[in-house]
Amino acid sequence: MTAQAKLDKGEARCPDAPSTQEIIAKDSVAAPSWVRCESYEFLGDEDISTDRYYDPEFEKKEYENLWTRTWQFACREEHIPDVGDYYVYDIGRKSFLITRVEENEIRAYYNACLHRGTKLRASGTDGCAHEFKCPFHGWTWNLDGSLQFAQNGWDFPHVKAEEFELPQAKVQVLAGFVFINMDHNAPPMEQYLGNEFMSHLNAWKLEDRYIHCHVSKVIPANWKLTMEAFMEAYHVIETHPQVAPSN
Ligand code: FES
Repeated sequence: MTAQAKLDKGEARCPDAPSTQEIIAKDSVAAPSWVRCESYEFLGDEDISTDRYYDPEFEKKEYENLWTRTWQFACREEHIPDVGDYYVYDIGRKSFLITRVEENEIRAYYNACLHRGTKLRASGTDGCAHEFKCPFHGWTWNLDGSLQFAQNGWDFPHVKAEEFELPQAKVQVLAGFVFINMDHNAPPMEQYLGNEFMSHLNAWKLEDRYIHCHVSKVIPANWKLTMEAFMEAYHVIETHPQVAPSN
């Protein structure tokens, strides 16, 4: 191990190479401001507890405090290009029907029948529908979420159609990405993400892109461990040297 100068926390930098910003500053054509911005923040270097990766109680808290309250990417707009197109998005025990109900309106219906909770559409499916009919007893909802039909409705005098519309989560489309949030008090995504992130997002014009190929894989690991492996570049030097020729 090489000797390290005494540095304040968060000040460590590669001693033998220019920083990314120094390289960008030497470009003959000035880089746009969103490329030049920096937002480094020292977030601590204390050990974190390991229970967050395996403890069911921690996972329960994540559902209560995170997944039910945060914006999350459900699908791309091109998954549901036409009115009636739907895409099933699952997160934990919740399931949503991301549905294009009008040319310019996308809704996220809870994918659960209001009679006895059967999923209106199976997980992992998508398609086009003019109604959502429950496969168990046949209660049916229109594309706009209103109750169309209750089997043997005479036996349910307490069911009022206006109280049996499919519940919805919040939906916002940004750069072609469809996000949902179960918390109806959540701030708009622009506020949630902040100006700096928005400037990066807008610069890439991802609304003009489309999915050419989608590869997915179920990984038998805690979601945070998996995300952390994809977010950190520290492993690239040893694990993927072929994509880091500058090393
Ligand atoms: S559970 Fe859906 S109609 Fe009964």
